[in-house]
Amino acid sequence: MPYTIKNICCLGAGYVGGPTMAMIAAKCPHIQVTVCDFNQARIDAWNSDDLPVYEPGLQEVVESARGKNLHFSTNIKPAIAAADLIFVCVGTPTKSYGIGAGRAADLRYIESAARLIAEVSTGNKIIVEKSTIPVKTANAIQSILTANSPADATFQVLSNPEFLAEGTAVADMENPDRILIGGEQNPEGQAALEALVSVYANWIPREKIITTNLWSSELSKLVANAFLAQRISSINSISALCEATGADVDEVALAIGSDSRIGSKFLKASVGFGGSCFQKDILNLVYLCESFKLPEAAAYWRSVVTMNDWQKSRFVEKIVRTLYNTVNGKRIAILGFAFKKDTNDTRESAAINIVRDLVAENAHVVIYDPRVDEESIHRDLLEVGVPQDIINFNIEIAPDPYTAATGAHALATLTEWDEFRTLDLPRIYDLMLKPAFIFDGRAVLPAGALKAQGFEAFVIGKGD
Ligand code: NAD
Ligand code: UGA
Repeated sequence: MPYTIKNICCLGAGYVGGPTMAMIAAKCPHIQVTVCDFNQARIDAWNSDDLPVYEPGLQEVVESARGKNLHFSTNIKPAIAAADLIFVCVGTPTKSYGIGAGRAADLRYIESAARLIAEVSTGNKIIVEKSTIPVKTANAIQSILTANSPADATFQVLSNPEFLAEGTAVADMENPDRILIGGEQNPEGQAALEALVSVYANWIPREKIITTNLWSSELSKLVANAFLAQRISSINSISALCEATGADVDEVALAIGSDSRIGSKFLKASVGFGGSCFQKDILNLVYLCESFKLPEAAAYWRSVVTMNDWQKSRFVEKIVRTLYNTVNGKRIAILGFAFKKDTNDTRESAAINIVRDLVAENAHVVIYDPRVDEESIHRDLLEVGVPQDIINFNIEIAPDPYTAATGAHALATLTEWDEFRTLDLPRIYDLMLKPAFIFDGRAVLPAGALKAQGFEAFVIGKGD
């Protein structure tokens, strides 16, 4: 049965739901799009000039459609009832309790979304998993929907994972490498799949829209993130070897990345990958491998996270050892707290563990980030066990890099914000205590200029 999509509802107005639905609304003026969430503050922010997500270009996309065919609402049930197609964009964090704790995905929000849909649906609806979920979740959604809905309601469940990266979300959505849609291999499933293809085809060339079976699509999302994270752990492992041998990791990355079979992207050594998804999705993959009795495959992917943890802890160790084996009472300036540039998101940012470990050594840490506010930093540190009194006394937030550097024994860059590339290094040098130590965890500062200025500089992946 062919579907006509006139009305879309999205459950979850987070980093994915808000921006992806804004793009669909902007590209498909003939479709009404309503983004729903329980979180009133989030919805209010989406309806204001101060959006809850910072992404270059996002404000313009939202403003082009909001109030016309893009709506943000906490009135969830009527929006579900009116929709032909419902995107599920709720969170799928790592489970912190019970079976699979620390690895498996916590699917409670997915289940609650499915139950809500079943409760208020009539007629034929297409349900689209956009959240990242374990393979076979579509089965669970379908069975909850079927068991809890009225007899006249029918559902087709599709998988349509999202591949946008934060900081480049608008460009990624506007011109994606591919759109992936998985559906059931029967006429009803294929009709639903074609309906979703037709939505994307409003701005994406058909040859970029890949269609597969449901399980391939669900699994591909976890595998894509695992492969990307694996490249970072691989180059980070080599950064340690470069530091030990006098090789330069950026030169190695250029040399190997020029091989078209390897490719040049995702070979930038760092203090470790962060973000809400890489670690969570790899752990989810590990859990899947274990569940299917594949311990060797599980151990292989687990090592990507182990390497990432080591990269963060060895950076702290480098700072402490270089500062004569003690940072007790020393002022350490931290430039960058977001998990990458051009976002205010700090989830799983390497900076969180690094700051936690520095204050555990009794350092006084002064943090500057152009987009992250004090409240988020305090919340993140509390979550990883830094006591409130330590936050009050040993954590300071600076309004600019120069205030952070004033009187500092050492300065560390943890996020690759562009503005750090053009810092006034002579001014920073004058403001710091001597010797003035720099730990460039992102290799963003001009290495030659650092040495010429008189800094004692350590740059990730660069041997002496
Ligand atoms: P998020 O935490 O920012 O947003 C999820 C939202 O869902 C929250 O605001 C929550 O209140 C809401 N919610 C929960 N249950 C609901 C329900 N029943 N009805 C309505 N709203 C409900 O999460 P996110 O970063 O947007 O991620 C969502 C999913 O997308 C995850 O599975 C994630 O792995 C995946 N993903 C994220 C990114 C990213 O860049 N953040 C990229 C690709 C995929
Ligand atoms: C990542 C993927 O790139 C997206 O395709 C995916 O949709 C998303 O996860 C998701 O599922 O949530 P994101 O985490 O937003 O996107 O950002 P990335 O650009 O992938 O960066 C992740 C982390 O890796 C950052 O901390 C970044 O600084 C680090 N990184 C990235 C490196 O250390 N080196 C690199 O070469 C690239």
